[in-house]
Amino acid sequence: MRIFLIPVMAAFITLVGCQSAPHSTLYQDLGKLQGIENIVNDFLFGLGSDPRIAHHFAEADPERLRSKLVEQFCAESGGGCTYTGDSMKESHAGMNITHADFNALVEVLVDAMEKNGVSVAAQNRLLKRLAPMHRDIVEQ
Ligand code: HEM
Repeated sequence: MRIFLIPVMAAFITLVGCQSAPHSTLYQDLGKLQGIENIVNDFLFGLGSDPRIAHHFAEADPERLRSKLVEQFCAESGGGCTYTGDSMKESHAGMNITHADFNALVEVLVDAMEKNGVSVAAQNRLLKRLAPMHRDIVEQ
């Protein structure tokens, strides 16, 4: 009898083991889709009211920017979304974006993540994914 119980118990331990050690993705740490939407809303509000860079966004379509940023952050954080916007090179071409502009935008994004209770570790993981994009965005 006891010999039959061994495989059953092994299967049970494996199942419980998997459930008790969930893999925490960046997407989860950002609060999944709802969290990302909240972060992007605060991010856009911050961009529009930051005197260093607000002028860049004066002509932008806020609804398009909102939906493309949500897609992009969701895709970059492993949430399984597909980014359907233009490439970073295309969408920022001719804007004369400087390193200072880029750094200011990163500060506004950090404030938005902070406001939404994202841990510093998770903030850094998202920034690490976005940082290489500066090559296609900064022009001077
Ligand atoms: C890591 C940094 C950045 C990321 C991830 C990012 C991401 C994006 C995305 C996803 C879009 C939408 C593209 C589309 O419409 O298909 C966009 C558009 C735009 N970005 Fe950025 N961006 C970054 C840096 C910046 C900076 C530094 C500025 C200026 C200070 C800027 C200004 C704009 C503007 C004005 C638009 C709207 C263009 C339009 O509506 O015609 N971006 N960005």
